Amino acid sequence: MDVASVHWLQTEDGRRVLDRAASLDEPDPLRARAALERACPGTAPDLLAVALTQAGLRERAAAKFGALAASMLFTPEGLEQATRLSVATHRAARLTAYDASTVIDLGCGIGGDLVAFARAGLTCAGVDLDPVRVAVATANLAALDLPGAVGVADALEVDVAPFDVAFADPARRTGRGRTFSLEAWTPPWSFAETLLERDACVKTAPGIPHDVVPAGVEAEWVSDHGEVKEAALWGGRLATVARRATVIRDGGLATLTEEDDPGADVVPLGRYLYEPDGAVIRAGLVTAVAAGVQGGLLDRHIAYVTADSSFRTPFARSYEVLETLPHREKPLRAALHERGIGRLTIKKRGVDVVPDQLRKRLALTGDNEATIVLTRVAGQGTCLLVRPF
Ligand SMILES: C[S@@+](CC[C@H](N)C(=O)[O-])C[C@H]1O[C@@H](n2cnc3c(N)ncnc32)[C@H](O)[C@@H]1O
Repeated sequence: MDVASVHWLQTEDGRRVLDRAASLDEPDPLRARAALERACPGTAPDLLAVALTQAGLRERAAAKFGALAASMLFTPEGLEQATRLSVATHRAARLTAYDASTVIDLGCGIGGDLVAFARAGLTCAGVDLDPVRVAVATANLAALDLPGAVGVADALEVDVAPFDVAFADPARRTGRGRTFSLEAWTPPWSFAETLLERDACVKTAPGIPHDVVPAGVEAEWVSDHGEVKEAALWGGRLATVARRATVIRDGGLATLTEEDDPGADVVPLGRYLYEPDGAVIRAGLVTAVAAGVQGGLLDRHIAYVTADSSFRTPFARSYEVLETLPHREKPLRAALHERGIGRLTIKKRGVDVVPDQLRKRLALTGDNEATIVLTRVAGQGTCLLVRPF
C-alpha cells in the first residue's frame, strides 16, 4: 500500500468501497474481487485490491484492537508489529498514573501505542521513518477522533526534551525474520539505553536477557490472556521496582514484583499444583507465586509450584493433584486405559516429551477426559493426574 492509497481509503469513495469489501461473505479471493467490481463499477483495479486487502486486515486486527479495528487502517507488517490494545492501554495508564501529560512515540508504526496514549488523554506525537505508516497512524487517530501529531522523522534526530515521556518500540525484524541481536533493532538498543536514562518506556521482546537491563531500569513482563506479549523497560521516575509481572485478563489486571517475593524452598508434592503465568516465569517471580499460595517449588529448576492449600490466583493456573501415575510410557498407557481416559491434556515442564506425539503413542480409548503433568521432582521423572479448578 502507498500513501496515495491510504488517502483514498479515507475519501467518501474509498470508505464506500472498503465497506462493501468488508461486507462480502466470499472466502474465494477471485470471486470476492469480481463481486466487489460488480458492486463498485468504475473503481480502478488497484483500488479494488487495496480495499480487499484492507478488509482482510481489519478482520485480522479485531483480535488486537477489538471493535476499534473496524474503523482503523493497517498494513500487514504494521499490524503484526502493533501493540495490542489491552497492553497499550495498560502502558498508557502507567504514564497517566505518573502525571505525565505529553509523550513522544519514536517509531509509532500504524499507531497501536499512539492510539492508546491519545485515548488515555495524553497529548501525543509520533514519528516513523516509513511515510505509509505515518499516513496510517494519522488516519487512525483521525478515524477514532483522537488528537495527536504524526510525522516522518528519524527517531535518532528527534529532540525528546519537550516531552514528559519518550516511548520507543524498536522493530525487531530483519529481512530474515525476528532478530534477538539487540544492535540489529531499529532504532538500535544503544538508542534505547540512552533513552532509558530519562523518563521513558521501551518495549522489547519477552526474551530479553535480565542482564542487559540497565541498572535502575524496571523490566515489566506483560501477558494477555496467558500469552506473554512483551517486556517493557521503564526508565527515570517511571521505574519503581526492578522486575514486575503484569497479567491482563478479562477481569482486569494484576501485578507482582520482586517486593512480593520472600523466596521459597523446594517442598514435597502437596494437594495442589500451580502453573505460573509466563510473565511471572520470565520475570523470575515463580517463588513469589509459591509464597502467595503458602507453598513451595516442586523442583528448584522447574516453574511448578505446589501447596496444600487451594488458592485462586491470577498469576498461575491451579490444579488439584488427584494421583501420581507411572511416568514410563507403557505403564502410563495401561493406567490411562484402566481409567477409560480417551481425551488427554498433557502439560510438561523439564522433561523431553512432545505432547502430540506421546498422545498418539498412548492410543487412548474411553469416554473420560483428563489432564496429566509430566515433570521432574527431585531429578525423577514424574506424572501427575490433575484436575484444573
Ligand atoms: C515495532 S514497530 C512500532 C509499532 C507500534 N508501537 C504500534 O503499536 O503500532 C517499530 C517502528 O519503528 C520504525 N522505525 C525504525 N527505526 C526508526 C527510526 N530510526 N526512526 C523512526 N522510526 C523508526 C519502523 O518503521 C516501525 O514502524
